[in-house]
Amino acid sequence: MSGHSVPKRWLEVTVDHPGDPETAALLVDLLLELPAGGVEETASALRVHVPESLEGVTPDPEAWRRTLARRLGSRLGSRDPWPVTVRWQAHEDWAETWRQGLGPRRFPPRLVVSPSWAPGEADPHEIRITIDPGMAFGTAEHATTRGCLRLVQSVLTTGDRVADVGSGSGILAIAAALLGAERVLAYESDEWSCEALAENLEANGVLPRVELHPGEVTGPELVDAGPFHGILANMQTRILVPLLPAFRQALAPHGWLIVSGVLRSEEPVMRDALQRHGFAVTDEDGEDEWWTAVARRQEGRPS
Ligand SMILES: C[S@@+](CC[C@H](N)C(=O)[O-])C[C@H]1O[C@@H](n2cnc3c(N)ncnc32)[C@H](O)[C@@H]1O
Repeated sequence: MSGHSVPKRWLEVTVDHPGDPETAALLVDLLLELPAGGVEETASALRVHVPESLEGVTPDPEAWRRTLARRLGSRLGSRDPWPVTVRWQAHEDWAETWRQGLGPRRFPPRLVVSPSWAPGEADPHEIRITIDPGMAFGTAEHATTRGCLRLVQSVLTTGDRVADVGSGSGILAIAAALLGAERVLAYESDEWSCEALAENLEANGVLPRVELHPGEVTGPELVDAGPFHGILANMQTRILVPLLPAFRQALAPHGWLIVSGVLRSEEPVMRDALQRHGFAVTDEDGEDEWWTAVARRQEGRPS
């Protein structure tokens, strides 16, 4: 891990917005497979930034455009050819674009997320999380992150031991620690995200209560690290469902699980999987095409 320096320039990849929210969500998933951190979504386009210094980033934007347009056509169909544009962007310009778009965001009753350059007015009962955009998903610019931030405030109890699976920028792990968790284990597979995560933990003063576990998380690893009072998991449905048995085993009796990254169209599949694996949905949140839920470990059956 680590050892990366800040790239001199970024490959900016832009795809015109497909219009309907479901296709846009699938497109976000596909763009998240690129070696980029977050996907920026505006009314007219979806955009990612890939660092030049990353292995495998060819210096030929046109080759990127052709490959991505082909991949979009074969995976999502519907638009042929897909309107993809690719260009180099200097590091300074990239950082500035982010700065202009982001300000403090409030998640009542207590959480506020803001970048370091725009902290906003401080209110004594609020808990402030500082996240500067880096190469990691989780700046509260995505509805799935926001759903978790809204729901976690009513389930987390002071002293909880928590796992944040697919931690990205570490935003949820930081929120958990600042809300009173005694210990948080943050699991993240992406190298670039881990770097941003480590910086964010430091900037928010939550070290050493939050522990970073780089690498792809496995079920047995989670079970070994348990028991947890709560698990936060904002990942895609196809990654979440196979992990549900391990989540159940890693949780203490009546422990809470927050799942996000679930499309509204996937809600029935996720509800059914939760029930089959011994969870009961106790709270939920919907924003745009995304569904986020709190599920409690049900007792009275073998785990
Ligand atoms: C949708 S982002 C969520 C980030 C943050 N928790 C939030 O709520 O904004 C999902 C993250 O999970 C990471 N991830 C995906 N599969 C993983 C795995 N098997 N193990 C660990 N991290 C994984 C991705 O790299 C990505 O950073």
